[in-house]
Amino acid sequence: MKLSVSILSIENRLEYVKKLNNTNTDYIHIDVMDGIFVSDRQFSLEEIKKINEVSKKKLDIHLMMENPLTYIDKLDNMNINNITIHIEIAKDIKYLIDKIHSLGYKARLSISPDTSIECLIPYLDKVEGILVMSVNPGKGGQSFIPSTLDKAKKLKELNNNLSIEIDGGVNDTNIEAIKDSGVDTIVVGSYIVKSNDYVDRINNLISV
Ligand code: DX5
Ligand code: ZN
Repeated sequence: MKLSVSILSIENRLEYVKKLNNTNTDYIHIDVMDGIFVSDRQFSLEEIKKINEVSKKKLDIHLMMENPLTYIDKLDNMNINNITIHIEIAKDIKYLIDKIHSLGYKARLSISPDTSIECLIPYLDKVEGILVMSVNPGKGGQSFIPSTLDKAKKLKELNNNLSIEIDGGVNDTNIEAIKDSGVDTIVVGSYIVKSNDYVDRINNLISV
């Protein structure tokens, strides 16, 4: 299992990224919020650039934004694995996917718990992965919604090449069911960043 650690709920994010450099974490998950698609506002471009400077891990950028182009354009030349946009935004999704690819990054589409997977179908052969939200986007520390795993299974059946990432409420109680659903990448915030045992928790999750 690949692990992307969400640093949303951390106060001193730069110091925490330095700590994660010395762990088996695969990616740093950056939850960008615009105050429109979700009510909170998080992660300025300046902060992402500083994180990119100190991180030895690739960044996993999750844009919870109604107008993601304002960020995508400015995220060039960074150590980014993928940029994820939401399928629910009323924008030209194909154009945004092409834009992400033109910067040399993988593109992912994210789907919120209340959205059905039909709207993703036209894009399944155009992206490298799907981010299935297992909580409603907007804040960390929420409870995992088990029914979202059905989406992960169906998406994997529709296109076996897709990387499936799951985001929200992931911990040791649901990791087995997540793995059984075909998910290859987990985003984990609170369960890791709120614990003094974060190194053990990281190693236990990725060994599942
Ligand atoms: C929710 C975010 C998640 C969240 C994960 O909007 O997309 O990445 O921070 O944090 P936990 O693991 O605390 O749910
Ligand atoms: Zn996220």
